Amino acid sequence: MLKEIFEQPDALANTIRGRLDPAGGTAFLSGLSLSPRELAAVRRVVIVGCGTSLHAGMVGKYLFEKLADIPTAPEQAAEFRYSNPIVGPDDWVIALSQSGETADTLAAVRESIRKGALVSGLCNVVGSTIAREAGRGVYLHAGPEISVASTKAFTAQVTALLMTALKLGRTRRLSFEDGDRLVKEISRLPELVGKVLEGNDAIAKVAEKYAKADDMFFIGRGMLHPVALEGALKIKEVAYVHAEGYQAAELKHGPIALLSEKTPVVALLADIPGKEKTLGNVQECRTRMAPVVGVVTEGDEAAAAAVTDALVIPKTCAELSPIVTVVVLQLFAYHVARLRGCEIDQPRNLAKSVTVE
Ligand code: M6R
Repeated sequence: MLKEIFEQPDALANTIRGRLDPAGGTAFLSGLSLSPRELAAVRRVVIVGCGTSLHAGMVGKYLFEKLADIPTAPEQAAEFRYSNPIVGPDDWVIALSQSGETADTLAAVRESIRKGALVSGLCNVVGSTIAREAGRGVYLHAGPEISVASTKAFTAQVTALLMTALKLGRTRRLSFEDGDRLVKEISRLPELVGKVLEGNDAIAKVAEKYAKADDMFFIGRGMLHPVALEGALKIKEVAYVHAEGYQAAELKHGPIALLSEKTPVVALLADIPGKEKTLGNVQECRTRMAPVVGVVTEGDEAAAAAVTDALVIPKTCAELSPIVTVVVLQLFAYHVARLRGCEIDQPRNLAKSVTVE
C-alpha cells in the first residue's frame, strides 16, 4: 500500500501524459471515440462503480456539473443494475473500475448497453472485461495496483474524470481561459502530490496520537464529501477502525451525539467554497471535546488554528483539492494501521477484485 501511495506522482504523470491540449484549453481523450457533436448531445451523465471507484464517481459529479453544466448521477453499481434504471440514448454511462472485472459494475454496463445509452469504461487494467464490453473509454495507466486498499487508482480516476469533464465542458460553456487555467493546474498534479508525500513523517506523528481510537468521523463539503467517505473507507479496510464519512453539515443532524474526547474528527478544509462553514462545524466538534485533525492548505493560518492537529496540503484550485487531500488520508490510514499492528497488505475478509455478486 505504501509503495503504491508513493507511486502516485508517476502514476498521475502517466494518466495525464499526451492528454492535455494547451492550444485548445481542453483534453485529448481519443479512446472515448466521441465527436464534439456527440458530446454536445449528451443530456445526462451517470457514473457507476463500487467502493473506492464509486467515491471517485461521486467526485466526478461535482466536476461534470461545475465544468460542463451537465446533470450527473453517481450510482452504486449493484443498486443501479437492479433498479430497472431509467437510461437511454441521451445518457452517457461511465463505468469506473480499477480492475475492470467487478461483477456489479460489469452488469451495470451490460444493462446500460441494452437500454441504448452511450457507455464508456474508465479502467486501469488494459483489456479487462469492462473495458472490452464498453468498447470505448479511458485507460488510467496508473500501473498495476496490487494492494487491496485502492490508492493510486482513486487519484488516477479523479484525474481522468477531471480531464473528461474539461473536454465535455469545452464542447459547452467552459471558456478557453478557464480550460487553459485547468490544463496548467492539471499538469502540476504530479508535483503537487509529491509535495503531499513530503509530509509523510508529519502525518505519521499525528497518526500516533490517534492510533488507539476505536471510532472516527471524517467530514467534508461539496467535492470533499466523497473524499471524507474514501478516508473513512481506507481506515476501516486497513486499520479496522470504525469510521464514518459525512457531509460536514449533516453531523449536527444526529451523529454529533456520538462525539466525545474519544472520537477524533478528520475535517477536510482545503480551499473550496463552503470551507468557512466547515470551520463552523469544526468548532461544534471541539465544543463536544472531540479532537479535530484538519487537512488544511499551506498558509491558511485560520484553519490551522481552528483544529487540534493540522496536516498541510499545497495550494491548488478547487478541482484538484480532492486529489491532494485524499493522499493525506491514505497515509494517515496507513500509519494508523501500522501502529495498530495490522497486516496492511492482507486485510481480513477482503479480496482485490469482487467478481461475484
Ligand atoms: O476494481 P474496482 O475499482 O471495480 O473495485 C471496486 C471496489 O471493490 C474497490 O474499490 C474496493 O472498494 C477497494 N478495496 C477499496 O480500497
